[in-house]
Amino acid sequence: MWNSDNPFLNGNYAPWREEGDAYDLEVEGEVPRELEGALYRVGPNPHFKPLGRYHWFDGDGMVHAFVLREGRAAYRNRYVKSDGLQAEMKAGHALFGGLLEQPRELPPGLPPFKNAGNTNIVGYANRLLALYEASLPHELKPLTLETVGLYDFGGKLNGPMTAHPKFDPVNGDLLFFGYSPFPPYVTWYRGDRAGNLVETRPIDSGLPVMMHDFITTDDYAIFFVCPSVFRLENMAARKPLMNWEPEHGTKIGVMNRKTGEVKWFNAEAFFVFHFLNAYEESGSLVVDGCRMAALDMSGNDFGNPPLPWRWTLNLANGSIKSEQLDDILAEFPRLDERLAGKKNRYGYFAANRGPDDANGFDCIFKRDSQSGRTEFQDLGGGKMPGEPVFVPRGCAEDDGWVLSVWYDPKVDSSELLIQDARNFSGHPIARVKAPHRVPFGFHGNWVPA
Ligand SMILES: [Fe+2]
Repeated sequence: MWNSDNPFLNGNYAPWREEGDAYDLEVEGEVPRELEGALYRVGPNPHFKPLGRYHWFDGDGMVHAFVLREGRAAYRNRYVKSDGLQAEMKAGHALFGGLLEQPRELPPGLPPFKNAGNTNIVGYANRLLALYEASLPHELKPLTLETVGLYDFGGKLNGPMTAHPKFDPVNGDLLFFGYSPFPPYVTWYRGDRAGNLVETRPIDSGLPVMMHDFITTDDYAIFFVCPSVFRLENMAARKPLMNWEPEHGTKIGVMNRKTGEVKWFNAEAFFVFHFLNAYEESGSLVVDGCRMAALDMSGNDFGNPPLPWRWTLNLANGSIKSEQLDDILAEFPRLDERLAGKKNRYGYFAANRGPDDANGFDCIFKRDSQSGRTEFQDLGGGKMPGEPVFVPRGCAEDDGWVLSVWYDPKVDSSELLIQDARNFSGHPIARVKAPHRVPFGFHGNWVPA
């Protein structure tokens, strides 16, 4: 596409630029009738040929919805119509440079960079929000996927919002943060289930870093300050905006959610894009995530494989125990989110067992942290999955379905896989054929009907 040798503009990373609706999708197997709702996914999907160097994080957000009802499946996809994309559509070409480019001169009234809305999509307070960590969320209509506009909690949210908020499984509160290259760098927020912003707390992390995710427990919010440092001065020198500075190490801030007090832990330099979960146990905080030894943001190769990892933070003496849990390349960790912030047993990941990493994942992987047992689902034939999303059915952990979207390079098509989580390696319950390929994206969530 666009005669680029950038792998993130080719294969199934290349954008699918048609918006559409399709009903009564072909299904192999049966869609469980109890599964009523929609799996929303979002990813980068540049509408116009990018200006200069393209980074995977730059593309315009496109939302893909698989709607399941009465055993039938439908599909709909729409762009997140950001102000930036609308201005580009008016102009008929790209206007914004991306992460790897210097800012361009833009028509008046536009923000200095595009709020692509391409990273995650969540249901919150009867709204559908497309998230992008450098900006405010976009609100979309859940049924039509039409972009309503920016969502700022009725004018109360004045800064960016992470693409990885957490839901308090007990009261439905939305727990999140925003980060910025300027002091105090990080701000913690809490929204109630009705959509009111009820808590705002600045946290001085001491260093302007890219902080993609965080993690919470019932009593704490945990911020990993990994040394991928914003250097605004680099932009003029055409050097990367984000610089890996391992000399700072990684600082871990543990905020007491009641008092706001922050306790800092110091570790060696590493990077985490995503956490699986965290919980309190015997005076410590156990944090599970995917660790990379370092992060390179100067191109599209992040430099190091992500591996399942555990940090145990001793709240009494400030020590950290750091353990690699598996030697498999694994990312996009998800759990049964009824256990968010509480001790969980299972994690579901997109993974690559190799030998060739082929610029993507080749299986999904379930890990039992109690026994260390691993199970894999691999459709074979070079098919490639995205992030697996758990949807609960019964009361117990792992009693539910795992939903994932796969791409088959041999026939250039995609399908939604529905599995019984408890029969992870077994035959899938249903394979729902998408009407066309669904480009690899970032994150998605299930929103019940
Ligand atoms: Fe993410």
